[in-house]
Amino acid sequence: FIGPDESGEGGAILAKDILGNPIPASQILAEVPGSRALVAGLAGEPTYLTVLENSSLNPIGIVDNCTHLGCTFPWNPVDQEFQCPCHGSRYSADGSVLRGPAPLPLKLVHVAIKENRIWLSPWTELDPRTEAKPWWV
Ligand code: FES
Repeated sequence: FIGPDESGEGGAILAKDILGNPIPASQILAEVPGSRALVAGLAGEPTYLTVLENSSLNPIGIVDNCTHLGCTFPWNPVDQEFQCPCHGSRYSADGSVLRGPAPLPLKLVHVAIKENRIWLSPWTELDPRTEAKPWWV
């Protein structure tokens, strides 16, 4: 059971740390612009949040689940890419495929801050990278 203070409209959930504690937005926003923070997201999926140049949070989160065979992967701040260690797929900052074998762009989620809490909710609209229906919907 998820208490009413932990579930939002449209399937939104609170971003949590590895121990299951909600992460204050202020904690993520204290990182330098360009930083990526990994949080536990929808259905427990690890999800990258990005601190923008104006120290706000990018409203688009990127799910850390390679579309090839599902490995998790780090952000490489030097190359400015997500780089999957399993078979070498590479993704740009917005999760578009730069190099296969990954067949599809990374899954997106909505990110919003309310009262210092970070809410994640399903992305069901057009994928802004392909302007097509998202493959995960
Ligand atoms: Fe990422 Fe294969 S699982 S490249």
